[in-house]
Amino acid sequence: MSILKDAPFETLLTEEQIQTRIRELGEQITQDYQDKDLVLVGVLRGSYLFLADLSRHIDLPLIVDFLAVSSYGTRTQSSGVVRLTNDLSMSIVDKDVLLVEDIVDTGLTMSYLIENLATRKPRSIKICSLLDKPARNIQPVNIDYLGFEIPDKFVVGYGLDYMGRYRNLPYIGYLNHPPAE
Ligand code: IMP
Ligand code: MG
Repeated sequence: MSILKDAPFETLLTEEQIQTRIRELGEQITQDYQDKDLVLVGVLRGSYLFLADLSRHIDLPLIVDFLAVSSYGTRTQSSGVVRLTNDLSMSIVDKDVLLVEDIVDTGLTMSYLIENLATRKPRSIKICSLLDKPARNIQPVNIDYLGFEIPDKFVVGYGLDYMGRYRNLPYIGYLNHPPAE
């Protein structure tokens, strides 16, 4: 049994599709941040692979930092109550912050983070999300750099987990039989 070959998921986005899109996003960000002071802020844990790949396609002397959030909820549904469980390791005063996230689902996590980080006087804050599930958005979030819009399915792989597992799949798949809430 190989988790990579025999995983019980339907493929939604292949490794090649993901990598091609990330290269495009990296080139766009490189152009847009030429005269800026870019800090990539990865939202742990879901964004760890995306940030690692994206940052290698940004040709700028950027800084990488991380924060971690958790939202209480059931296995596949967030409650909307967001908690910062690990903060940034440095100041973002006068920096151009780009939040790097795996997926915008309800939008509650991103709107909480934007509000929180805005109080720390960065020069700018933008959002780069690999995925967006527009059918589930509750809180409007402006995604400045988006990888893919996806249908209303629970997805795993490439950083995204189901009960902590499957983050290491190099592609993104969806659960055929979504778990009961
Ligand atoms: P929010 O609902 O936009 O606040 O998203 C909260 C978090 O739930 C995201 O950052 C993901 O970590 C997680 N999440 C949302 N949808 C999925 C999914 O389809 N698969 C795995 N994790 C998800
Ligand atoms: Mg996440």
